[in-house]
Amino acid sequence: MEEERIMTPGLEDQREERFENSLRPKTLDEYIGQDKVKENMKIYIEAAKKRGEALDHVLLYGPPGLGKTTLSNIISNEMCSNIKITSGPAIEKPGDLASLLTNLSEFDVLFIDEIHRLSKSVEEILYPALEDYTLDIIIGKGPSSRSIRLDLPKFTLIGATTKAGALTTPLRDRFGIVNRLELYSIEDLTTIVKRSSNILGVEIEEEAAIEIARRSRGTPRIANRLLKRVRDYAIVLGDGSINLKITKHALNKLEIDELGLDEIDRRLLETMIVQYSGRAVGIEALAATVGEEVDTIEDVYEPYLIQIGFIARTLRGRKVLPAAYKHLGYEYKGE
Ligand code: ADE
Repeated sequence: MEEERIMTPGLEDQREERFENSLRPKTLDEYIGQDKVKENMKIYIEAAKKRGEALDHVLLYGPPGLGKTTLSNIISNEMCSNIKITSGPAIEKPGDLASLLTNLSEFDVLFIDEIHRLSKSVEEILYPALEDYTLDIIIGKGPSSRSIRLDLPKFTLIGATTKAGALTTPLRDRFGIVNRLELYSIEDLTTIVKRSSNILGVEIEEEAAIEIARRSRGTPRIANRLLKRVRDYAIVLGDGSINLKITKHALNKLEIDELGLDEIDRRLLETMIVQYSGRAVGIEALAATVGEEVDTIEDVYEPYLIQIGFIARTLRGRKVLPAAYKHLGYEYKGE
């Protein structure tokens, strides 16, 4: 029985999700970083509560792992409402969305992850639901079909996406609140690592927390994952408490370098330096050369490489910058 469960596909995902859930802050005050978003949301939430209205629809966008789901849970918690969680690809037919919407209660939050992947027919149902809380459904087929209008409870849609640019204009325009989540600073990530260690009941040195933060590419999800791996090393090689030496040892074994770059980052940068001789390269060509999806490069790898000044987006494509040459030990020969 146990063996069967271990073999079940997706179990590692479930474990990871449970692990993440245990570390998730429950209130805006507990949530670290994203100060601008937090300040704004506090005001909007308090105002909506004072007016006795549903919070306006919220769009959260930014790279993966920055806390879009966490923030949505917090918003519903702060609004004292329930949250229903789904994703763009999971809503296959207009009927799926209709059933989600009609089962909401007043002020509930409907969280749609990857909202840019909603189909057109589903998206069209969403417009009147967002605008005036109504649902138009068509009953029957052909000449005898008729449309009826249902009133929906006043709810809040929270849409999350890694690509705000991929949203259609009519959908984007229906969000009253638009928040861009930024990569986290090392200071904020250090605080998150210390908080998570505390929740997990693991002792961690300040320098070790900073080291994990430095190698987490601005992303709390990565910081928490690395903490979990370092904790394993600390248990097996030491007394379970995390110091700088064990942290460096564990992260080096994971082949995560001082800046948090992994093998794929290095492959990307080396391809740009060696194969394209530092010239601007189109994202499709780059993706084909390194064998990754364009979306993965754009959403997962590139934001951090741009933030640390290793890559620039230019009109002619992506360009690798001098700092990347230096980090990888290549000589920069100039333009
Ligand atoms: N865990 C993951 N993200 C977090 C955040 N922004 N604040 C606190 N804990 C977190």
